[in-house]
Amino acid sequence: MCEEKHWNSSQLRRYDLQFEQIPRIHYTDPKIDELISANKPVVITGSNIIKTARDHWTPEYLEQNLGVAGHTVFSSKTHKFKYFDDSKISKNNLNGIEFIPPTRKCKMRMGEFMKKLREWKPGNDRLYLQQPLNNTVGPLIVEDFAHFDWEYVNKRQAKHNWGPLTSNLLLISQEGNVTPCHYDEQQNFFGQAYGYKRCILFPPSDFECLYPHPVFHPHDRQSMVDFDRPDYVKFPKFGNAKGCETVVEPGDVLYIPIYWWHHIESLMRGGPTVSVNFWFKGGPTSLSYPLKDHQKVSITRNVEKMLLEVLQDPKEVGPLLRSMVMGRYSE
Ligand code: FUM
Ligand code: FE
Repeated sequence: MCEEKHWNSSQLRRYDLQFEQIPRIHYTDPKIDELISANKPVVITGSNIIKTARDHWTPEYLEQNLGVAGHTVFSSKTHKFKYFDDSKISKNNLNGIEFIPPTRKCKMRMGEFMKKLREWKPGNDRLYLQQPLNNTVGPLIVEDFAHFDWEYVNKRQAKHNWGPLTSNLLLISQEGNVTPCHYDEQQNFFGQAYGYKRCILFPPSDFECLYPHPVFHPHDRQSMVDFDRPDYVKFPKFGNAKGCETVVEPGDVLYIPIYWWHHIESLMRGGPTVSVNFWFKGGPTSLSYPLKDHQKVSITRNVEKMLLEVLQDPKEVGPLLRSMVMGRYSE
């Protein structure tokens, strides 16, 4: 059966890279577990994982039912919402360069957020609500959440030896917003409830093509490459990154494997989007050889952290690493 498409390619932002398609597989197909076991992304289709959210969670329904507490909303002067860790700001000004946060975080009631979205015009700050689902949400949302297909989710968690579920983040985005390329240290079932999002993923082995900020930088885990204007002098290997992409639609759940890079954009001119993700801790790691690519990323992170701890100054980490490598391990 041919799936009906509700968006077109003019709604996608343009980048220099070419992407393969992430497979879309029906939730009953055992290939899903094969891909998850191999740490490969897959779009799970036709499931009831977030069916209640897909059936109900329009922006208007959420406006009525999310509750009156303030929710976390980020604002940005551009379409990009690059995450930063505020706990890493003060101590770690890099080479005296002041860190200027690219977004601002505030608390806003859902009604106010939706009003601003409705009244938004070019030149206004863009907005992105990112709120962990917790006990402040209203009873109808709690009920929908309770009726997610937890059996399916819990079976994947057990079968693939994931750690505990740490949180479910509700994301309500203005059209055209972008979460720039980064990786998370958790397994992610990314559920799309309303609207369409393009998700571009890269494997952990693309570490050297995507140039993550140093671990102690507020933008830890984020790529330094601006996908809109890649600087090929600073980041010459960016063009070698081997990405894959998909556009998730209401009801889809994308598996984003731990340590996989992801760039996520709400389609342009597609109206607001609603997503909910399920983050799980990684399972206990038994080191078997050869090491997997994501384990190498984890080791790299630990080496950086250890050096910072003993050197006590981020500015000293690079020179020490360089002196270890140049002429000894470099070609
Ligand atoms: O914008 C987003 O939907 C981002 C999600 C994520 O990074 O997990
Ligand atoms: Fe993420």
